[in-house]
Amino acid sequence: MAKSSITFSCNACGATYNKWSGRCDACAQWNTIHEDRGISAGPPSKSLGTKRGSAMVLTDLTTHEPPPPRSQSGIAELDRVLGGGLVKASAILVGGDPGIGKSTLLLQAAAHFARNGLKTIYVSGEEASAQVRMRAQRLGLTDASVQLAAETNLRDILTTLDAEKPDLVIIDSIQTMWADNVESAPGSVSQVRAAAHELTSFAKRRGVSVILVGHVTKDGQIAGPRVVEHMVDTVLYFEGERGHQFRILRAVKNRFGPADEIGVFEMTGAGLAEVTNPSALFLSERGEPTAGSVVFAGIEGTRPVLCELQALVAPSPHSQARRTVVGWDGGRLAMILAVLEARCGIPFAGLDVYLNVAGGMKISEPAADLAVAAALLSAREDVALPAETVVFGEISLSGALRPATQTENRLKEAQKLGFTNAIAPAGGKPVGKNGITLNTMSDLTGFVGEIFGAG
Ligand code: TYD
Ligand code: MG
Repeated sequence: MAKSSITFSCNACGATYNKWSGRCDACAQWNTIHEDRGISAGPPSKSLGTKRGSAMVLTDLTTHEPPPPRSQSGIAELDRVLGGGLVKASAILVGGDPGIGKSTLLLQAAAHFARNGLKTIYVSGEEASAQVRMRAQRLGLTDASVQLAAETNLRDILTTLDAEKPDLVIIDSIQTMWADNVESAPGSVSQVRAAAHELTSFAKRRGVSVILVGHVTKDGQIAGPRVVEHMVDTVLYFEGERGHQFRILRAVKNRFGPADEIGVFEMTGAGLAEVTNPSALFLSERGEPTAGSVVFAGIEGTRPVLCELQALVAPSPHSQARRTVVGWDGGRLAMILAVLEARCGIPFAGLDVYLNVAGGMKISEPAADLAVAAALLSAREDVALPAETVVFGEISLSGALRPATQTENRLKEAQKLGFTNAIAPAGGKPVGKNGITLNTMSDLTGFVGEIFGAG
């Protein structure tokens, strides 16, 4: 007898089982296991080896493949993050915290793509069409021929899309979608996974670009879009800090372009505006040079971005000193503190250390190491760095400084914004003249000695 295709999965954590149980072994929740009846209506799985399959299609690696057709929105920050425009038959996930501006961004994108001739359908599972229309009015988008629907039933959505044959479909949000063949509440892992699976296979089958909106919550209460990430071609995260106007659209996965590319936007009264010079924005709140503040010349994707690192070092009243970091990796901070102590003899024991990337920017480049070390030392010694100086470079565990990539681009951006000095590791590619005095060093001890007169 063929094996049954019925499986069970946990709504809370997504673990799958071949029989029902009252309690999920993986996450220890009760009553979260439900039956998944064949998500896509394919034939039941047959046990392999009993029947001959049909031959799979083999093609040669040398076959010339034309680049995928792309459509541009005209929103340069968005097109760049997509890898040069929207690829036909691709599925894109746009994740972000609730209220960050995903619906606003995608409504604007929908209108732009529609103006450029794409047949666009915007399906909202969260707002009524009238609400979406009101938002479009406020954003000045009412001239664009975007079709709206307020619907959550996946079967109805797919039926309509099959008949309408759009070029682009936006699903806002994947958590509100409801597949009637899956026995759990909308927003649960099984529902989110089933809906994403149906919609991505629809994109491939019909040659339609599908954008899925996914809410992420910090505490992970609602089934986040994480389960969707591996199904889609492109994953973009829309980030920003409350209280700051700017938002960053970051590609974390892209089968059709570079990952790590960012687009910068500013939330205004009339929707999201493109920020073409992000460095100027990130540095706009910077005042006179102060101890603990250092400007890092970074690279985000293909673009140089300058931002300010702020450190505060103070005697700790606690038995265990605090290490708090916002916008950078806590593990990396611990490493730099350890290297400063072991290689330069500068201890941070008994001192609370706070590190913040100004403006809510998140940095993941190792090239920020030297800027972080500079900010920590500057805060600890209460000495400001020389004015108009940018810092970048990676620090190794031995205390040696490693040259960063794209030195030339970093320096050019710094010069454009009025900086006159740069501190960077020695070695690497020679750079041309660009009006910036480049001060190179080969190890951290030399850096400490030269800048802080210690070591
Ligand atoms: P929204 O796009 O609804 O967020 P999400 O879909 O990610 O949940 O954006 C909501 C916030 O954006 C809301 O707090 C108001 C603000 N906003 C503006 O500041 N300007 C605007 O033009 C619009 C439409 C929204
Ligand atoms: Mg929304």
